[in-house]
Amino acid sequence: MVTKTNITSLISQLTLRQKARLLNGVGMWQTKGYTEPYVPSIFMCDGPHGLRKQGQEQEGNINSSAYATCYPTACASASSWNVDIVRLIGESIGEEAKHEQVSIVLGPGVNIKRSPLCGRNFEYYSEDPYLAGRLANAWVNGVQSRKVGTSLKHFAVNGQEHRRMTIDTIVDERALREIYLSAFEYVVKNSQPSTIMAAYNKINGTSCTQNKYLLDTILRKEWKYKGAVVSDWGATYDIVQCIKNGMDLEMPYSYTYNTQALIDAVNCGEITEKELDHAVSNVLKLACEYKKYILSDYDTDYSALHAVAKECATECGVLVKNTDKALPLVSKEKVLFLGELAEKMRFQGAGSSHIRTQAVPSLIDALKFNNCKMIYAEGYRVDTDAVDMQLREEAIDLAKTCDKVVICCGLTDESEGEGYDRTHLLLPHNQVDLIEAVVALNKQVILVTFGGSPFIIPCVDQVKSVLCMYLAGQGVGEATQELLYGVKNPSGKLAESWPMRLEDTPCYQYYANTKRAVQLRESIFVGYRYYDTFNVPTQFCFGHGLSYTQFKYSAFNVKKNNKYNYTVSLTVKNVGKVAGKEVVQLYIANPDEAYIHAKRELKGFCKTDLLNPGEQQDIEFSLDERSFSYYDCATKCYCVAKGSYTIEIGSSLNDIRCNKTISVAGQTVVDVQDKYPSYFNKTEGVFTVSDQEFTDLVGAPLLEEKPFNKGEFTIFNCLDDMKDSFIKKTIIKRSINNELAKGYKENSAVVKMTVKSTKEIPLCSVTAMSNNEFTRNIVDAVINMANGKTVKGLACLVKKEKINDKY
Ligand code: BGC
Repeated sequence: MVTKTNITSLISQLTLRQKARLLNGVGMWQTKGYTEPYVPSIFMCDGPHGLRKQGQEQEGNINSSAYATCYPTACASASSWNVDIVRLIGESIGEEAKHEQVSIVLGPGVNIKRSPLCGRNFEYYSEDPYLAGRLANAWVNGVQSRKVGTSLKHFAVNGQEHRRMTIDTIVDERALREIYLSAFEYVVKNSQPSTIMAAYNKINGTSCTQNKYLLDTILRKEWKYKGAVVSDWGATYDIVQCIKNGMDLEMPYSYTYNTQALIDAVNCGEITEKELDHAVSNVLKLACEYKKYILSDYDTDYSALHAVAKECATECGVLVKNTDKALPLVSKEKVLFLGELAEKMRFQGAGSSHIRTQAVPSLIDALKFNNCKMIYAEGYRVDTDAVDMQLREEAIDLAKTCDKVVICCGLTDESEGEGYDRTHLLLPHNQVDLIEAVVALNKQVILVTFGGSPFIIPCVDQVKSVLCMYLAGQGVGEATQELLYGVKNPSGKLAESWPMRLEDTPCYQYYANTKRAVQLRESIFVGYRYYDTFNVPTQFCFGHGLSYTQFKYSAFNVKKNNKYNYTVSLTVKNVGKVAGKEVVQLYIANPDEAYIHAKRELKGFCKTDLLNPGEQQDIEFSLDERSFSYYDCATKCYCVAKGSYTIEIGSSLNDIRCNKTISVAGQTVVDVQDKYPSYFNKTEGVFTVSDQEFTDLVGAPLLEEKPFNKGEFTIFNCLDDMKDSFIKKTIIKRSINNELAKGYKENSAVVKMTVKSTKEIPLCSVTAMSNNEFTRNIVDAVINMANGKTVKGLACLVKKEKINDKY
């Protein structure tokens, strides 16, 4: 057993050098181990939707890894609103991890979707922290039930890919607590994930990896976190500050520069050995604990896991529109399927969560396998936005002969991915063109959509039905066929709002358009908290999703147990003709007082069992003090505002079926309408918050967004901060060529990510992240040259490297 005494005794046997080295990994994925005294080394790997286990030879190629099952990505699994399904995904990934002898799976991602433009939204659950927290908790419990560790990421407020490694996120305390931290808080308090991954970005001036407020005050002291804090890969900027302020393990291997920096810092008293030992102890506990569970022979049944992936995918599909019962399709009717996405399916996102799967059955494969009466034509190509006239004409001619046309459409890999954000909400031009042309023929058009984030659905008013599949993992082809033909009844609901226009998004003016700092001026008004409160119409609201059956809600009752504890109950009955599941949502509408607040917030949800026609189920929710609370910055704790609250039960945010208003005791709120008029102003237009209001809200002056100048460049700057130069262009060209040489196309997600990362990675991290291809000498040369010291820069290039890894 790993006890405190064992760990203390182990630490006492290690030299300072050994201890400092333990705080950095080996290669990309392992922790450091020793034979004398024995310290085990454990293996970690991505990621939230399956395993991306890389052998050493695969490390330089992001899409190269051992074969694994790809489960629905977080954006899809969140649409299931089913904690059991998300737990099942976690358990299955845990099974595969055991087979692969992986100790820690790097997930889940529980960041809040601030804008639909974030390129990495597919890896996150929701715009709502209550929902995100409950689902992430289920995933962590699922993986950890198999004695495999997890890494809750990216802690915290990592809401954009643009300049993700250096951007300073300016956020007010209330939004930080209520929106961006509360999902993390829920998971930490309820399931103690074995590690937390500290994010790349800064929060209010300090990098997450060296942010004492975040890592020590909040995480360890307030939430009582017991595990280890790991840096996001390459997020260790100043190792001494990181270790002093609560980070424990730097990943990946950084070629001993940081190890030496730690030793020097201990020797000169900048950090105490006790501070170092604190981190060492957390790393040792982690490694000793998880090494115990590694089995040399653990079998996995991959075909059973594929069945799990398919079952989960069917739970995730969201039927967002269905007029005239155009769906489900009937097997004897002849249906035309259009769109290359039906064949080259998009079922996962690009970047570090990429899973290398065995062959994935497409929708077309599934239709053929099930003998569905159908014709298929590509209509457009996925690797370009341009209309292919021949494919278009062929599609239109075929459409003239069929009554129903199913068009598969959505975001392509190039449109979204880790490392870069989208700039608009439109689908590729060739897809929009095809949909418009087919709709003009007056046929019954059904859209099946794929993608990791909302977009504007073309001709949404004219098409009959829309089935939104997000990125649902390797079972997506078969799941889509089953949902379209009613073999399974859709039961997903949107875990995020689908805005009408980009200009309607609350952070429209404040998203990913700066180099130094991003201001979260919309504060707590993220997602539906904004659209609902400010009466901004959406394409589809939060929580929306239809079924092939109907549900009736009855016997609604609110029982007060004590001051803040209530039991809310109701009965849900399937009153339609086919079996189905319903997601019941509980919202609390806040008192109409002059404090900053959202109109209503999600405080409970429940997915019913599969109910046969006529069958019913009793449902119960428990509310407590936190259900009615907001974070009060003056007292630094969650408080209840005195007033009338309405408990609402809905089938979606905009479809509230029962409600009851109750009077709740609490503190009298201070009227802040005059001080913060923007947060109360419901007139139409782009959401705007004045400098003064935001300065008052954050309680600090706003940083000036000025260019970076010669003379000020340090190791914490990135190439993107610097003017174009020969060396800068050469470095960028070289990274592109490296990817092209591996077979990636120029406009592929991998190359896009590589270019952005090369430009935006701070120079202190580039050696570790490039596997020492960009050595410290090259880094020193770049900095000197950017600062105008060309000769000194050139001299760096011929210096001898100082790597000393003798431990
Ligand atoms: C990502 C993490 C991931 C890590 C290791 C980072 O770039 O942000 O989510 O776990 O790489 O691949």
